[in-house]
Amino acid sequence: MIEFRCFRNDDPPRLADAWRSADLGPSAMQPMTSALLEAGVFSKPYFDREGLIVAIDDGRVVGFAHAAFGPNADHSAIDTTVGTTLLVVVVPHAEHERIGADLLDRCETYLQRRGAATLLGGGSTEMRSFYLGLYGGADLPGVLDSSPTMQSVFRRAGYAEAERIGVLRRPLTGFRPPVNRLQLAIRRATTLRVIDEPARRSWWEAATTTGIALRRYELRGTGESLLGTASFWDMQPLATAWGVSATGLMHVGIEGERRRQGLAHYLVAEALHDLAQEGVTLAETHVSETNSPAMQLFTKIGFEIADRGTLFRKS
Ligand SMILES: CC(C)(COP(=O)(O)OP(=O)(O)OC[C@H]1O[C@@H](n2cnc3c(N)ncnc32)[C@H](O)[C@@H]1OP(=O)(O)O)[C@@H](O)C(=O)NCCC(=O)NCCS
Repeated sequence: MIEFRCFRNDDPPRLADAWRSADLGPSAMQPMTSALLEAGVFSKPYFDREGLIVAIDDGRVVGFAHAAFGPNADHSAIDTTVGTTLLVVVVPHAEHERIGADLLDRCETYLQRRGAATLLGGGSTEMRSFYLGLYGGADLPGVLDSSPTMQSVFRRAGYAEAERIGVLRRPLTGFRPPVNRLQLAIRRATTLRVIDEPARRSWWEAATTTGIALRRYELRGTGESLLGTASFWDMQPLATAWGVSATGLMHVGIEGERRRQGLAHYLVAEALHDLAQEGVTLAETHVSETNSPAMQLFTKIGFEIADRGTLFRKS
């Protein structure tokens, strides 16, 4: 008989084992180890053992699912009114459908007990509580199309698509920023600053990016006014597992009144050139398919869709 219980301190090696056996697709870190789970999951200050449900069959871990919360409005603490089940991991098993369904059901019960009125499925830029660098790539992209087994667990439980997220990639070998009159004019009127390990802007950003090598590019205009920023991280350990040196573009933003003047194109292209010169060979970013300005910006820079993810919501 399959039993379900919450996480115990001696579980990590067996959870890593289950992860290695499950069919999670190419954007899940492999081979998973206890040390990687420690860094990306158990060490987080908001880790709650009650939210990580483990399925046991005859003493063997045959699956686990992890429910979590995102940040409150000022990113100073977690907000338990919206909860998500980040992952449902099931090893090949005669009863895999039932194990997945029961794990998800128990995650929902946990989230509701803590006060969640909205139930999501999968992580996102906002719900980036755990697994950054272990599942999904540059960010958490919901549940990827390349993890069809996990997607079907959510669909069978009545979850619907809330958002589609594009995983965009661009090879950087030999990358050159465009040279035209607009770009030259921006170069003359602005300065580009590179800040390694920038101070984190909030408790949430610090908690979710601990142990991650962050780099921020700042574009400044006359009088040092900030025009926009682009934040990248060294996509470890996934990039090493893929055999490339990859950078994840986490966010690019241009000040409202300065948009549509070519600044984001300039900023991202200069940053990618700088990274390419340091030996980075691949850039990845995730964009909601409803964010048409960002989609068009990245297409113009030469990014192409490599995968898609779905952020689910239970109605
Ligand atoms: C997305 C964003 C960074 C674009 O910045 P920007 O400086 O206005 O972009 P640029 O002027 O460099 O535009 C470059 C290209 O992007 C596309 N683009 C930018 N804004 C667009 C818009 N509102 N509608 C359609 N396409 C747009 C166009 O293809 C444009 O090329 P074109 O001017 O030759 O048509 C900006 O809108 C922003 O800060 N948005 C909020 C944050 C965000 O969504 N970030 C992206 C996800 S992390």
